Amino acid sequence: MIGIGVIGYGYWGPNLVRNFVECPDALVRMVCDTNSARLAQAERRYPGTRVTTAPTDLINDPNVDAVVIATPVETHFELALSALRAGKHVLVEKPITSTSDQASRLIDEGHSRNLVVMVGHTFVYTGAVRKMKELSDAGELGEIYYYDSVRINLGLFQKDVNVLWDLAVHDLAIMDYVLQQRPISVSCTGLAHLHERPENIAYMTMFFDGRLIAHIHVNWLSPVKVRRTLLGGSRRMVMFDDLEGSEKIKVYDRGISVNPSPENVYQMLIGYRTGEMWAPQLTVTEALSVEAAHFVDCIRRSTKPITDGDAGLRVVRLLESASESMAAKGRLISLRSAVGA
Ligand SMILES: NC(=O)c1ccc[n+]([C@@H]2O[C@H](COP(=O)([O-])OP(=O)(O)OC[C@H]3O[C@@H](n4cnc5c(N)ncnc54)[C@H](O)[C@@H]3O)[C@@H](O)[C@H]2O)c1
Repeated sequence: MIGIGVIGYGYWGPNLVRNFVECPDALVRMVCDTNSARLAQAERRYPGTRVTTAPTDLINDPNVDAVVIATPVETHFELALSALRAGKHVLVEKPITSTSDQASRLIDEGHSRNLVVMVGHTFVYTGAVRKMKELSDAGELGEIYYYDSVRINLGLFQKDVNVLWDLAVHDLAIMDYVLQQRPISVSCTGLAHLHERPENIAYMTMFFDGRLIAHIHVNWLSPVKVRRTLLGGSRRMVMFDDLEGSEKIKVYDRGISVNPSPENVYQMLIGYRTGEMWAPQLTVTEALSVEAAHFVDCIRRSTKPITDGDAGLRVVRLLESASESMAAKGRLISLRSAVGA
């Protein structure tokens, strides 16, 4: 049994605790939150589980093998570093840290101690995103031409982070998993509509070697909620609509064909191919349950998680570079010097 300690029992923490409680090879040993009212809720829900307001109690507990961190992002680094130094495996909620330097330091610490460092890129563990990757990897979509995502709603305006760190982080995590290529440069534009608040609307474009392009549009000031991703390939295209009930993924057997004109060989004829659309069956297991089981499995087998520290680092690097570009009105930022980019 892997002993689990969860730090942070706010909005997201209870979901993690519930899924680790239900995970057959894990035992939730302790829950920590600096807010005692939140802890009282954890105690009522899980009467046998110990609780504490001091993260060090949990981190130093010999019965805790792994620490799950679901606190605000600015606290991730210190908590995760202390846990690793105490010899514990860590699962850190997204985004892994506030800076890429911090993420690199966590990766190094985990590596030198042979400990698992995983980031909570939860979408990667959904049936829908897994299906997108499966179709793409199997060549069903042909050459991938574009990744285009919209994540907008009337959202909670954050004080400390811009909309990219809140919403685009999900798209970047999905993109990092699904695409086999890494972006080589990024440009981002956006604006803040409230005085002294970070940008609440952003348009992020990523360029790759070859003919692939990616775009992410995020907005906290939209009257409608949209959660839609298109993955366009030369053979087929996929739409992931997270607001759909059962048919979250639709595969379109559509595209274009380009043929030289019979009258004039220098002129191209573009033909449209409109084949069938189908919605493949998806695994419906809760993503967090898959994620929790994967974390425990990686600890038991000493293997690298799908969403390891490097995946967390790549996403934070993109968020940093996009924020830098946005501050400079869309200046193109090269990602070539980034390790693993
Ligand atoms: N994977 C996902 O889909 C997903 C969804 C929501 C949130 N999150 C992530 O989960 C994390 C937490 O978000 P949230 O919405 O639950 O925030 P929240 O503010 O609702 O909860 C955070 C909790 O942490 C506690 N806390 C703060 N500092 C602490 C410390 N040093 N030690 C112990 N407890 C501390 C707070 O008292 C609070 O109860 C963030 O990183 C967020 O991005 C991930």
